[in-house]
Amino acid sequence: MITESLQINEKGHLAIGGIDTLFLTEKYGTPLYVMDEDQIRKNCKSYVNAINDYYDGYGMIAYASKAFNCKAMCGIIKDENMGIDVVSGGELYTAKLVGFPAEKIVFHGNNKTPNELIMAIEYGVGRIVVDNIFELKLLDKLAAAANKKINIMLRIKPGVDAHTHDFIRTGQIDSKFGFALETGEAMDAVEQSLKTENLNLSGLHCHIGSQIFDIEPFCHASEIMLNFMCDIREKFGFTVKELNMGGGFGIKYIKENDPPSYTNFVKDIIATIKTTCKKKQFDLPFLIFEPGRSIVGEAGITLYTIGAIKEIPNIRTYISVDGGMCDNPRYALYKADYTFTVANRANEEKTNKVTIAGKCCESGDILGENIMLQNVEIGDTLAVMSTGAYNYAMSSNYNRNLTPPVIMIKDSKDRIVIKGQTYEDIVRNDI
Ligand code: LLP
Repeated sequence: MITESLQINEKGHLAIGGIDTLFLTEKYGTPLYVMDEDQIRKNCKSYVNAINDYYDGYGMIAYASKAFNCKAMCGIIKDENMGIDVVSGGELYTAKLVGFPAEKIVFHGNNKTPNELIMAIEYGVGRIVVDNIFELKLLDKLAAAANKKINIMLRIKPGVDAHTHDFIRTGQIDSKFGFALETGEAMDAVEQSLKTENLNLSGLHCHIGSQIFDIEPFCHASEIMLNFMCDIREKFGFTVKELNMGGGFGIKYIKENDPPSYTNFVKDIIATIKTTCKKKQFDLPFLIFEPGRSIVGEAGITLYTIGAIKEIPNIRTYISVDGGMCDNPRYALYKADYTFTVANRANEEKTNKVTIAGKCCESGDILGENIMLQNVEIGDTLAVMSTGAYNYAMSSNYNRNLTPPVIMIKDSKDRIVIKGQTYEDIVRNDI
């Protein structure tokens, strides 16, 4: 199967983590998000082990929770002794609810509100990643008011062009995130940080983009960042002690995707860091990575019931499902590729070319075009693979559709981690 979590069982049905998907749809209904917790934990361990094996454990894996955040997920990350990257008050609030150790929280965002910053200061968040000068000044003031010294990292645009979709590239100069190196803006931000009274410049951060398969741009970016750290040492006699290389490691959505192992990503970037530090006689920095997609993406699937089938002669056949862009907007946004199968006919051959449509009132509500699929009948179960990252997280109530429940499978047992919404939930805040 396309991902490690999936099997075809003796009935010819798709199974995840050893559980028949049809058992799950019968128990919980559709649409349904299902995640393999064993796989999530395995992914966590492979990153943590890589830091331990290749960098003597002198670092932290901070799961980028924007990929999938809920109490259970924050609990898993806490349990795996990792750090967490949050990017809003809501993500921080959720991490707080499970008692996530504050010092292991990294707080991101290009426009954190004063209230979000106050929340982070009060909770004692370990590192706030400052994105711009306005924020630097605001945070300095808020820290003074709270009578606290705050550890900050500066978000730097290293000018590396990662080969991925335009909307998820972030390392280049024309990006809303961070300080550019080549314009001198980054050096200026360092100078201003060093002049603040209540902020401690602990490190630098960069994130070059997402769903990247090449290791080379990461290595290149790490070299640029270290060179910059050396320039800072030279200019101000100040040593920046931490380097955060962000996330962005690609996953398998379709069989043509062939990402290197996460261990290799980490290993190769570390090799570059070690060589550069040696050459420049710079002490090895405390190293942070922020993988999101690669922790949860392949571990998740979405299950739908197939409804209307519309054949337009000589044009296409639309297969409609009982969800769509409201639970997975990624095709509408990025033309993202997915692998599909009919869960109750998983061992049959895919002989039909179809287009998978959602149920939203929008022509662009498509999950995949020209997809090869088994023969289908109304009432069959459609499975979409690798939907663990940025699907639930980006879901909406467009058309007042309900957000589906999220199930996790561990040791071949299923449990509900996010309840599906009800119509009462939908009107809860209506006055
Ligand atoms: N760190 C920072 C600062 C980030 O901005 C991101 C992702 C990550 C880490 C995690 O990157 P990952 O390992 O998940 O690639 N909604 C888009 C993806 C947006 C990524 C935003 N930042 C999608 O569905 O493809």
